[in-house]
Amino acid sequence: MVATTKTGEGWSSRSAFILAAIGAAVGLGNVWRFPTLAGENGGGAFVLFYVACVVLLGLPLVLSEIFIGRAGQTDAVGSIKKVAADSGVSSRWSVFGAIGAIAAFLILSFYSVVAGWVLYYVGVMGADLMQAIGSGDPFRGALAGESQEAIQGRMGDLFASPMLLLAMHFVFMGGTLYIVARGVHGGIEKAATWLMPAFFALLVGITIYGAIVGDMGDALAFLFTPDWSRLTPQAMNEALGQALFSLSLGVAGLITYGSYIREGHKLGSTSAAIAVADTSVALLAGLMIFPIVLAVGLDPAAGPTLVFQTLPFAFQSMPAGALIGFLFFVLILVAAITSSISLLEVPTAYGIGELGLRRHSSALLFGGGAFLIGIACLLGYNVWSDVRPLGFWPLFAETDILDTVDGFTGKVMLPLGALLTSLFIGWRADRKLVQQTTGLTGGMFALWRFLIAWLCPIAVTIILVTGLFPAVLGG
Ligand code: TRP
Repeated sequence: MVATTKTGEGWSSRSAFILAAIGAAVGLGNVWRFPTLAGENGGGAFVLFYVACVVLLGLPLVLSEIFIGRAGQTDAVGSIKKVAADSGVSSRWSVFGAIGAIAAFLILSFYSVVAGWVLYYVGVMGADLMQAIGSGDPFRGALAGESQEAIQGRMGDLFASPMLLLAMHFVFMGGTLYIVARGVHGGIEKAATWLMPAFFALLVGITIYGAIVGDMGDALAFLFTPDWSRLTPQAMNEALGQALFSLSLGVAGLITYGSYIREGHKLGSTSAAIAVADTSVALLAGLMIFPIVLAVGLDPAAGPTLVFQTLPFAFQSMPAGALIGFLFFVLILVAAITSSISLLEVPTAYGIGELGLRRHSSALLFGGGAFLIGIACLLGYNVWSDVRPLGFWPLFAETDILDTVDGFTGKVMLPLGALLTSLFIGWRADRKLVQQTTGLTGGMFALWRFLIAWLCPIAVTIILVTGLFPAVLGG
């Protein structure tokens, strides 16, 4: 008999699940956050350390989360309870499912705001492209005739306008809500099967473009030549945190998606496919962005504004910059939406499984709630720019609203979720159940168990402590 979830929903095939999970993993984390961090931390050594984190910590955790969902067949809290019951341990472990659902809800609130900036740039570059076409020169550079100050000033103008930020946030959250309300098969899966191929085509296309018109040699050297002196404890902390974020770990996202798997999969190879795809996209995104940035002599360490302020200026002097610049922001938008739907699906599934809500109501409740918190985040850039929500806490004393939600989820909730997942799977879950469900045996099982029971808890505890008490790192 085909096992189904409480709600009766499920993926239509193994590849549909893999595509949706890759869609969840590949997002702003890959195309915006990874290049930003790699640039700020000097490239090579950071990148290699990041890849090691993905293989040694990320991959075992991906498999653990998918296992819990597959074995539990319902929302994160219910799935953990089921695995706990089948393993004869306390159902209180399910608290990390609840922490995860809250974290996913909070991440969604600011994720939608940032995706709103991307949407705005799709509009700016789209209008510019229309103008280029209208003027009979469709292959001109982007934003012709605008000074560097004017191009970079756009972001400040956007941030100064609550209405504009709100409108973008509204449209993006509305789109996310629409897809999630349509369900696993008709919404999430359908979006992934249309959008992910488009994403890959754009990514490869723009990377080839960058290799031709940009400076690929410099970019390769920047990304892959390690200067180990740049690998400070802070950089390692950021790499570990980024690996969790990029693979969508620690907030029960993959538990939720895993619960919609119907038939027996080889979960090990499925997990590997997700981790490999996510990491390849992050590296390709680096190879897409840095040749363009370096060719124009811009600073790769520009920080979070790299893709919004630095790149549009770089596209000005590139052939067909107006067209490629537009496609570049479309690409980021596509990546963002397949991730935001996974973020909304976690609390939505919780509402369906634990609160007995219907899918529509649950999605509306949590999507609407995240929308409201997102409004507070975007007001933090203008009317509430003095507000410091966790100002009493030295770590967040100077942090605005959006960065506080981002920092708190990323530094506290995500590592905590990952830590509890690894302890639960490494030490509490029934070994037979794990082997049966994952299909992992022999040496592979032993290796995975070692990583999840020993390396993950230790490494994640280190991220948690050094993230919360930067003074430990001397920073
Ligand atoms: N992984 C996504 C990205 O890189 C973001 C994301 C989606 C996420 N779902 C998540 C992060 C769940 C943490 C947890 O952009």
